[in-house]
Amino acid sequence: MDTALLLFDSLVEGLFLFDREARLLRINPGGERILGRSGRALAGLGPGEVFPGNPEMADLVRACLDENRALVYSGIDFRDPDGKLFALSVSASPVQESDGTLVGAALLMRDETLLKEIDRSFRRADQLATLGVLNLGMAHEIKNPLGGIKGATQLLRADLEEGSPVVEYCDVILREVERIDGLLEGLLAAIPREEVRLEEINIHEVLNEVLTLMELSEETSGLTFTRLYDPSLPTIRGDRNGLTQVFLNLLKNSVEASPEGGRITVRTLVPVGAPVGGGGAQGGAHRSGVLEVIVQDEGPGFGSDVREFAMPFYTTKSKGVGLGLAISEQIVQNHGGTLVLDHGEGGGALVRVYLPLKAGQGE
Ligand SMILES: Nc1ncnc2c1ncn2[C@@H]1O[C@H](COP(=O)(O)OP(=O)(O)O)[C@@H](O)[C@H]1O
Ligand SMILES: [Mg+2]
Repeated sequence: MDTALLLFDSLVEGLFLFDREARLLRINPGGERILGRSGRALAGLGPGEVFPGNPEMADLVRACLDENRALVYSGIDFRDPDGKLFALSVSASPVQESDGTLVGAALLMRDETLLKEIDRSFRRADQLATLGVLNLGMAHEIKNPLGGIKGATQLLRADLEEGSPVVEYCDVILREVERIDGLLEGLLAAIPREEVRLEEINIHEVLNEVLTLMELSEETSGLTFTRLYDPSLPTIRGDRNGLTQVFLNLLKNSVEASPEGGRITVRTLVPVGAPVGGGGAQGGAHRSGVLEVIVQDEGPGFGSDVREFAMPFYTTKSKGVGLGLAISEQIVQNHGGTLVLDHGEGGGALVRVYLPLKAGQGE
């Protein structure tokens, strides 16, 4: 394949090529995703028809062609056919032959919603990394005496007479020790280590393992778990323990947020290209280079501002630690992926985990 085409198809940004008469010549999978329509259905249409809800987009293409100069806009509210709002930045550049003849216009659309979220999540990851450096040594230092406290308390408890009120105090100590221990384990797990072994992973195996665990737990009685898997997903390279922890954290949160009898849905898919099927089923489907796992529940959701939820130690639960999301995000990022908090249609929480299909970048 020619490298220019490869680049065109690989960009996550939406790229639209219009001819001199402002008719659409080509659209890349990123563009199909933003519009939610296939390139085939759009070919030959004018910008007014390509972007029906956004007349400023058509103006931009025409101005670029008329004035033969590049124009840049940011902060455009763009509504896709499903009514979902994107914050977009757009640039229109004239396309010229080597002798300067204008032959068309290239429109580049960038979804800033995701960029903003990614930017935020990297800032959070920085915080966690600082925390990690501080705590890697500290965690071990705390774990050792903790083991001593636990052992001694167990001995004390075993020594007590039946019915002694102190038994209850011992149980409190043991429970709280467990909690600190879990917290430390979590911190340790989130720190990228050199020896993490990347292996070939079938994401459905990981999900099934976690789901089975959840289904067997007493806390989930009455809840329904639904698996919606794309069986054609290829394997990925990743850290099995890390990813298991990610989905365990997400599902635990969903269980804790679910109303009585609620449904928790785990879905896998290839996000870009797949829903529109522009370039033929298979080729289009895996072109995006990432797979997406969606965990969705019917709880109250994250509310309107999702920013703070993945901050380390942010919790709204009385017994919460506030590390589940922060650690999950860190692990996903160690894989070269992204974790995005979102809302489902019914208002419940919807968490998207994007993982690269190519070799993970985990260190
Ligand atoms: N599925 C969900 N539905 C609603 N709120 C959630 C969900 N998952 C996480 N949250 C919110 O994000 C916060 C942080 O979650 P997390 O990092 O896992 O820590 P913790 O579960 O210990 O509170 C939770 O306290 C809760 O307010
Ligand atoms: Mg949690």
